[in-house]
Amino acid sequence: METFDAIVLGAGGAGLMCAAVAGQRGRRVVVLDHAPEPGRKILISGGGRCNFTNRDAAADRYLSANPHFAKSALGRYTAADFVALVERHGIAWHEKTLGQLFCDGSARQIVAMLLDEAAAGGVTIRLGEPLGEVGHADGVFTVRHGARTLAAPALVIATGGPSIPKLGATGIAYDLARRFGLKVVEPRPALVPLTLPGEEALFRALSGVATPVVARAGKAAFAEAALFTHRGLSGPAILQVSSYWRHGEAIGIDFRPDAAPGWLVAAKRARPRATLAGALALPARLAEALAERIGVGELGAASDRALAAAEARLADWRFHPDGTEGFAKAEVTVGGIATGGLSSKTMAARHLPGLYAIGEAVDVTGWLGGYNFQWAWASGWAAAQAL
Ligand code: FDA
Repeated sequence: METFDAIVLGAGGAGLMCAAVAGQRGRRVVVLDHAPEPGRKILISGGGRCNFTNRDAAADRYLSANPHFAKSALGRYTAADFVALVERHGIAWHEKTLGQLFCDGSARQIVAMLLDEAAAGGVTIRLGEPLGEVGHADGVFTVRHGARTLAAPALVIATGGPSIPKLGATGIAYDLARRFGLKVVEPRPALVPLTLPGEEALFRALSGVATPVVARAGKAAFAEAALFTHRGLSGPAILQVSSYWRHGEAIGIDFRPDAAPGWLVAAKRARPRATLAGALALPARLAEALAERIGVGELGAASDRALAAAEARLADWRFHPDGTEGFAKAEVTVGGIATGGLSSKTMAARHLPGLYAIGEAVDVTGWLGGYNFQWAWASGWAAAQAL
């Protein structure tokens, strides 16, 4: 039996950050993972350039049953702190849009940086073996990893959520949490494309067409691009609203978010021979599909009332998704280990000393755009202060 001060389960962003910081605070830490390499989701993130944080990361850009839970960790380890770390490692970066920060080079640099930090903390990393029995008795956690048994007074659950199983993602965090008396908020795929039913199939013919929109689900609204796919809808605006969408609900899309009220009647006065499709100033295939559904050809032939109705429909076009593309395609998971059982300051389980949960495993899910990694770093850092 090998003994440590802390065992971290999961060599993703949260686990590596937590282990590195705790190691540098003098703790003897081991990180265990079944994947053959660390940080696989970091490697594929941001199109290979890793959108590693967002300048605007704050709790109001995260979904959680407790919207206040993320405040403490995000406030104590900020996007600026992570940028400072990236710069200390000489990694060049740039802001793409909407506060999203990416490596100029490769996501590999972020993994290498985390491994360097872990090495500086003397962290042991063991990969490529399945996790076996996890036990707890007399204040000591024991974990089987391959042929070894490891023991420590602290256990950090950092095994993420079940999105993208082909990368090694599993729901083990939830099994462990339940086993140790923590509740789990029902996990759902999030930041995921939505599928459309047969009656909305007309739009599938538009596969590949993208346009800037405002997409809405419930009270959430996002001004970004939407993309039609052969199964339904995708693109950043749709991925964002997918985290808020519930089965049975419609989503609304404003296809002309920048148009002034009354723009279609004004267009008729200015150019009565123009067609609705022509007046829409959208990609041609999309404009034609929308105009056909609305049933207006030449603007001059339509009444002002019909054009006002068309304008209202275009500002809140209703789609009725019949599902999502599921965990296979979801960037993250909404839901997870219930925050009610955890300290927002240290991520420690309230009723079981020594148990911690961090990162995507916890019921805290960020918007698209670097928010989820910032939560991984911040929650990992917070737990490391208490280890
Ligand atoms: P993460 O999933 O990274 O790590 C968990 C670790 O636990 C993995 O190494 C896994 O192998 C291990 N594990 C799981 N089950 C196990 C088991 N049963 N036994 C042993 N080990 C086990 N976010 C962002 O902010 N910016 C971005 O650019 C992107 N881009 C992006 C692209 C794609 C395609 C995806 C799928 C996701 C993103 N994300 C993102 C989201 C981001 O990747 C995610 O939120 C973080 O990786 C979560 O970090 P964690 O460390 O919590 O889990």
